[in-house]
Amino acid sequence: MSLLFFVIKIYKLWYTFVMAIISDNNDFQKNSKTQGKNPIVKMETIEYDKTFENTIRPKTFEDYIGQTALKETLKISIEAAKLRERPLDHLLFYGPPGLGKTTLAGVIAEQMGADIKITSAPSLERPRDIIGILMSLKGGEILFIDEIHRLNKVAEEILYPAMEDFSLDMTTGKSQTVKTLRVPLPKFTLIGATTKAGELSGPLRDRFGIIHRLQFYTIEELTQVIKRTAGILDIKITEEGAVAIARRSRGTPRIANRLVKRVSDFALIKYDGVITDEVANNSLDVLNIDEFGLDTTDRAMLNLIIEKYDGGPVGIETIAAALSEDVRTLEDVCEPYLLQSGLLQRTPRGRKVSPEGYRHLGKKIDSYQQSLF
Ligand code: ADE
Repeated sequence: MSLLFFVIKIYKLWYTFVMAIISDNNDFQKNSKTQGKNPIVKMETIEYDKTFENTIRPKTFEDYIGQTALKETLKISIEAAKLRERPLDHLLFYGPPGLGKTTLAGVIAEQMGADIKITSAPSLERPRDIIGILMSLKGGEILFIDEIHRLNKVAEEILYPAMEDFSLDMTTGKSQTVKTLRVPLPKFTLIGATTKAGELSGPLRDRFGIIHRLQFYTIEELTQVIKRTAGILDIKITEEGAVAIARRSRGTPRIANRLVKRVSDFALIKYDGVITDEVANNSLDVLNIDEFGLDTTDRAMLNLIIEKYDGGPVGIETIAAALSEDVRTLEDVCEPYLLQSGLLQRTPRGRKVSPEGYRHLGKKIDSYQQSLF
């Protein structure tokens, strides 16, 4: 009997301790109550242009353009989970930035009729950060962790039993007197997003039941995204104008939405307010965005490899240092599209500009380089 009292006392102490730890994380709980159904509650660490992104962010699968195959399998998983009255399996989305991983998580939450909490791995620095979030979850809620490949080891270890058994393993005492307590958590769904699936540890990856890669968007899909955004923002645009912007959006809706806003400024100030293909092309030329959607940094990267390193191969650190750019920006933002569009190649000895890359920049390949392809 006294042992039972002892266990209950320890549990109570732990509960008080953990609640004290998470009390500073309670803001999002307050928010979720004030925002009604399916609030997307953001931690302050993620930059978020509420007025722009939130108004154009699709909330349903019908509004969400592209990723057709993925949407179909997700709809089935969601319906099955609802029928079984169980939370959706943990999901991992990977792919280049701007393809709509966060947006899709919001759509899933809406479809499940669940609340969603959104955070990113770099903001889960201390154990109490992840414990706080996990203990604040309600049954069926969705936890979205962006850049999940950047989760530290301790946070990962805390996440394993949470994902597998919906529990937190707590330890008390020191060495010989150490005790482990299992604190039950409500059943939740974790949606992880990463631009670098390869950097996720094996054990973490294995705990996701559903893993999907998001694809770059086609010109047709981006045209639809642009027309939808223009409609919401009351921007006048012709079909050809939308196609012209889509062509230079690097297969990425986030870029398409950004460009439609930039071009609409030009249309308003320098033209008669309507985005035609001429208005779009002239404005994007002024903004230094070329017919492939490459910007100044992309072209500087290709130019540097051609001019200074004979077309490559050259290491990414060397390129970053020469351009005074961050390695991560080059790897996560510039490279995926340059690789996908075949302008750049990645080899074990570094990055190489492809013959298409030379052609795109109007450069001649010398006979030595030619022999390497
Ligand atoms: N805005 C950003 N991504 C979108 C998508 N996939 N569909 C519609 N609008 C979007």
